[in-house]
Amino acid sequence: MTIATVPTPRPGILDITPYVGGEAKIAGIDKPIRLASNESALGPSANAIAAYRALAGEIHRYPDGGALELREALGRRHGLDPARIVCGAGSDELITLLLRSYAGPGDEVLHSRHGFLMYPIGAQTVGATPIAAPERALTTDVDALLERVTERTRIVFIANPNNPTGTYLGAAEMARLHDGLPPSVVLAIDAAYAEFVNRNDYEAGVALVDRADNVVMLRTFSKIYALAGLRLGWAYCPPEIADILNRMRGPFNVSAPALAAGVAAVEDVAGLVRAQRHNERWLAWFSERLTGLGIQLTPSVANFVLARFPDDPYKNAAAVFAFLQSRGILTRQMGGYGLPQCLRITIGTGEEMERVAAVLDEFMAPR
Ligand SMILES: Cc1ncc(COP(=O)(O)O)c(C=O)c1O
Repeated sequence: MTIATVPTPRPGILDITPYVGGEAKIAGIDKPIRLASNESALGPSANAIAAYRALAGEIHRYPDGGALELREALGRRHGLDPARIVCGAGSDELITLLLRSYAGPGDEVLHSRHGFLMYPIGAQTVGATPIAAPERALTTDVDALLERVTERTRIVFIANPNNPTGTYLGAAEMARLHDGLPPSVVLAIDAAYAEFVNRNDYEAGVALVDRADNVVMLRTFSKIYALAGLRLGWAYCPPEIADILNRMRGPFNVSAPALAAGVAAVEDVAGLVRAQRHNERWLAWFSERLTGLGIQLTPSVANFVLARFPDDPYKNAAAVFAFLQSRGILTRQMGGYGLPQCLRITIGTGEEMERVAAVLDEFMAPR
């Protein structure tokens, strides 16, 4: 028997390519325009900031490990049973908890080709095999997913709307996906951008969770509620799955300031509507401006656009990224998602979007 001379991680862990977040700094630029991480344009509710500050004198105390106040506030707001809500340190933690609970070595975790990267990365962390189903026009393809379901499939993750494509599945298509899955497979609907969607045929996932024992909806406070730095998300689950996630999570997995700010944010309905109106207005404005410049866009229902640039080395995505960065603007390169011809650009403030459009106009002009 050979004895390892250094600590050795479990098989497969060294195959993981770590997730790389959007950049936040540009050398030599004091305050870059940050459009790389789909953060909120308007910032958090003033009430959420006040609730966060009010906790400053109490941070020697453990938080409420059951997150009762927040679950009740979410229950009131969305008409849900708080007992079926589980809170997490961002929806990232809930993705990991689902994987740790339901998948392991030899199992398969299904996602769409350009789905959120934490699905394949998270699957690898538990030793499961991520399986990518091709998309149609950068949109989740239900038939392609169903064709790839095997007896090893444990979880199907669908971001709806999807990051980074901005496309979505209507309620009927999501129901068709669910109908085609064996009841033993968990369908995790990650609705991180749900609040931005303004389409009649969209449903965030509540209706499916309510009529099935194998569907979970994930939500986050990082996007429209603008609390990404606090790390707060939640899952709406069938009672049996809520029970499993509660067994698996850390006893104090969400911090007290996050819980307090979360309650204030959920209760600020006027702030939510303001953020929705802002996004509707500037998503439409920015999309029209870019299309007018000859830039190819995937139609987005979220708070970002996926822009495709030509192959020409002077006009490609890497060249645009560098040019924008030289003007103090951070966007997201998409090579890690298998879309090296594209950049993802978050909808920021009106002033920021006007500036980005002007810089892109300058870049696209014939030279
Ligand atoms: C689709 C999707 N799911 C989950 C997350 C993670 O969000 P959180 O900050 O809640 O961990 C993101 C963040 O970008 C996302 O785009």
